[in-house]
Amino acid sequence: MTPPPDLAGPLVRWQRSHGRHGLPWQGTRDPYRVWLSEVMLQQTQVSVVLGYYERFLDRWPDVAALAAAPLDDVLGAWSGLGYYSRARNLHRCAQEVVARFGGAFPPTQAELVTLPGIGRSTAAAIAAFCFGERAAILDGNVKRVLTRALAFGEDLASSAAERRLWDLATAVLPADGADMPAYTQGLMDLGATVCLARSPNCLLCPLQPACAARAQGRPEAFPVKTRKLRRTAQSLWLLQAVRPADGAVWLAKRPVPGVWAGLWCLPLHDSRAALEASVPAALQPSLDDAPAFTHVLTHKDLHLHPVRARAAPGWQPAGEGAWFAPSQWPQLGLPAPIRRLLEPPGG
Ligand code: ADE
Ligand code: SF4
Repeated sequence: MTPPPDLAGPLVRWQRSHGRHGLPWQGTRDPYRVWLSEVMLQQTQVSVVLGYYERFLDRWPDVAALAAAPLDDVLGAWSGLGYYSRARNLHRCAQEVVARFGGAFPPTQAELVTLPGIGRSTAAAIAAFCFGERAAILDGNVKRVLTRALAFGEDLASSAAERRLWDLATAVLPADGADMPAYTQGLMDLGATVCLARSPNCLLCPLQPACAARAQGRPEAFPVKTRKLRRTAQSLWLLQAVRPADGAVWLAKRPVPGVWAGLWCLPLHDSRAALEASVPAALQPSLDDAPAFTHVLTHKDLHLHPVRARAAPGWQPAGEGAWFAPSQWPQLGLPAPIRRLLEPPGG
């Protein structure tokens, strides 16, 4: 076994002089703040997270406040960040921290990972930032940095290869826990600003002297991952029933699990005919097709076809749901494309 190269020393020094420092979740060791930021940052970029993060903290300054909030309020505040299972897990996690740990996040990766929505890498980030634990993070950006620095050429579609990369990530950690916050942030910063997926800036990189992929002249050959995402497409027809008296629309809660699980949404149908069949014959001639648009999900393109209907007095669409007036929409957990449809930007 060759000893692991010293990546930690140069990375920690680089983070302190060249890394990101002014982000609002830095300079705190409060696990609530760190956890909230890490969950928001799991699938959303920093520039988008900034505003949401401040609003969440204003509204729910600690984990007990968040635990006590109605789930609908949390989903509403999350609206626009996407991947709503994160918001549901956030709320459940806050409740478990209160119920199982008396309102204080546990101080180890091993305990943190038992909480909803906290995976191995997020648990490590919280433990490293708040408690200086020597625990390795390994999100998508970090996989790129480490597979390159180590010229790790195994296919990450294999779980055995992924396990070996976790072991290597652990082997290259700094010896001193006091360096863990800067090291962990440094890996994130390097992946976000220098070791980019395309055209990495090796000339600016503190790992360049040690980087095996750079030495081979082929940083972009790493990481190796063969499994291809098979994307699918689906067409959906949205019944936008409007009550003329007050402009209220009929919304129904999406089932869990599924697309937009737990959010309020216009009633969805798999075909124009099915939508038409869901309204009384007298209303069918007045159905008004709005322009279709495409919404891109992780694994699927949704082709959305809104159809407007004027609700006759006393009528409401079939199934569970409720009328919501425009003044109520801002507080609701709505999927982003539905919100844009109901409240067009600048309209
Ligand atoms: N992405 C995930 N965690 C982050 C952090 N702490 N700072 C910046 N970007 C991140
Ligand atoms: Fe990435 Fe280049 Fe740095 Fe290697 S030297 S870690 S490939 S930026």
